[in-house]
Amino acid sequence: MLKLPGLIDPHVHLREPGATHKEDYDSGTCAALAGGFTIVLAMPNTTPPIFDSTTLDLALNAAKQKARCDFGQYIGAGPNNADVSASLAGKAAGLKMYLDSTFGELRLDDMTLWRPHFESYPKAYPLVAHSESRTMAAAILFAAIYDRPIHIAHVSLKEEILLIKAAKEKGIKVTCEVCPHHLFLTAPSPLTPLPQREGNHAANPPAPLGRRAGDEGRREVRPRLATQADVDALWQNMDVIDCFATDHAPHTLEEKDSDNPPPGFPGLETALPLLLTAVDAGRLTIDDVVAKMYKNPKKIFNLPEQPETWIEVDEKAEYEIKAETQFTRCGWTPFEGWQVKGKVRKVVLRGQTAFEDGQILVHAGYGKNVREQE
Ligand code: DOR
Ligand code: ZN
Repeated sequence: MLKLPGLIDPHVHLREPGATHKEDYDSGTCAALAGGFTIVLAMPNTTPPIFDSTTLDLALNAAKQKARCDFGQYIGAGPNNADVSASLAGKAAGLKMYLDSTFGELRLDDMTLWRPHFESYPKAYPLVAHSESRTMAAAILFAAIYDRPIHIAHVSLKEEILLIKAAKEKGIKVTCEVCPHHLFLTAPSPLTPLPQREGNHAANPPAPLGRRAGDEGRREVRPRLATQADVDALWQNMDVIDCFATDHAPHTLEEKDSDNPPPGFPGLETALPLLLTAVDAGRLTIDDVVAKMYKNPKKIFNLPEQPETWIEVDEKAEYEIKAETQFTRCGWTPFEGWQVKGKVRKVVLRGQTAFEDGQILVHAGYGKNVREQE
């Protein structure tokens, strides 16, 4: 049995308020515990979006009643809320800036709308950017100009990881995260025949997702799945990656298979087994996993110590990923049928066994706000 620290996921969507049929603070934090996470930081692109004191309280009140693991709630950067967000920095997980195509209403297209946020949000609190490709280059330039740290969410492209590497070498305060789906899946090429569904294994990734006609909606995610060359560049630059984050973005199967599928994959319950399978295959070390899922996010997001907290993993247990065994409410996973090695057996959170052998053992409301420590 492998004993690891409670894992931290700095990027999840828990859909509360507004879309609790997809997930809520209860089901989402059950999924987190089952996946070995004891802290999740929830994104603000809810309905309504979290962008002021009233909406932040709305989310935090729900979280306080329902969360089973510890949590933080991001505030979203909007066109007119730079002063308000800055004043709420002490209560929020961080400021999330949506600078590219995403799900929801929070999006800042015009760079004149970025400036007040870079100027006002306190440098001691995390600023996270959804920014892809050249937008990411612009966001890093803003961070350099305003001399403040910036964390780039879900890096997926070779050009992105190489620019982050160069920016770090220049001393720019940039950190980044990569999602398991961008490490283990590629976009199918229209020119090559689609491989069979069978035989996927996290030890021999990546595999194209969406192997049958009609599966297209299940492939929709932002940033999009990338090419083999992009995936290779992420693995080759593992030392540039600060964190693994799931970007757990649950949408129901019905929504994913509809004519207008929303982008996003669930990820909380598959991240650790996929990564441990990669460790088993020699593609990654266990120290990489602990650094990118505990040490680095704890430091970057300025998170409190969780006393008497650890997880126990049976690193020899082999099993098949099945949506039907998951706690997430969305009812599917892009990794259905994958063989993995490494199963979370037990999660102890602040002295209490919170999860053991498939059962959640703490009540709704056990989770604490990471920004409200007494
Ligand atoms: O795929 C995505 N899903 N990308 C985003 O930027 C948002 C997320 C969601 O909230 O569903
Ligand atoms: Zn996201």
